[in-house]
Amino acid sequence: MEFFLDTADIQEIETGLEWGLVDGVTTNPSLIAKQGKSYLKTVQEIARLVPGPVSGEVLATDFAGMMDQGKRLAALAENVIVKVPLTPPGLRAVGKLLEQGIRCNVTLCFSAAQALLAAKAGAAYISPFVGRLDDVGEDGMDLIEEIVSIYQNYDFDTKVLVASVRHPIHVVQAGQLGADVATLPFKVLEQLFKHPLTDIGLDRFLADWQKTGKSFED
Ligand code: E4P
Repeated sequence: MEFFLDTADIQEIETGLEWGLVDGVTTNPSLIAKQGKSYLKTVQEIARLVPGPVSGEVLATDFAGMMDQGKRLAALAENVIVKVPLTPPGLRAVGKLLEQGIRCNVTLCFSAAQALLAAKAGAAYISPFVGRLDDVGEDGMDLIEEIVSIYQNYDFDTKVLVASVRHPIHVVQAGQLGADVATLPFKVLEQLFKHPLTDIGLDRFLADWQKTGKSFED
């Protein structure tokens, strides 16, 4: 299972890379807006920093605009994946960009039917938003289960990228269901490390050794 960071914050990405736990990055217009920096330059900076796939989203909603912006995003670096919304022009752009060797991540997926369309269109990744489904009283992880089982029935190359992750349980469930990728806010990546017994255990080990008055070499 791969872990992507869902952020446009360079410091968070650098820390995740230092930990050796970040396989890629996803961005979106809201995340880049929070940084207050140039759109394309931010995607480029991230793509240079991260060895794995970096999703940069088109801002256009029409086919021609998405094709133009998709090509410009893809030209920034080899590891850029073009993120397009799950709309008819978006899925049309997926197929056309693929003909030119450009891979897409289809975003804003909220149903298994949409995920099936994205796979047929040739998406490299499908991004179902689990947290936003939970927010409206549905169970986002049920959607992951449906998509994984549908994709397993066929020979689709589309990877299931669990998005809108809010807490560690989403990540664990994504793993149990066999999702290919989970894209995590930095806070969730940090939370994955945490267990009170780990902290208590470490404190005890160190305190017990300190009581001996000896050092590491003794
Ligand atoms: C996915 O690629 C999106 O960037 C993201 O996961 C959306 O998450 P949110 O619902 O927390 O905004």
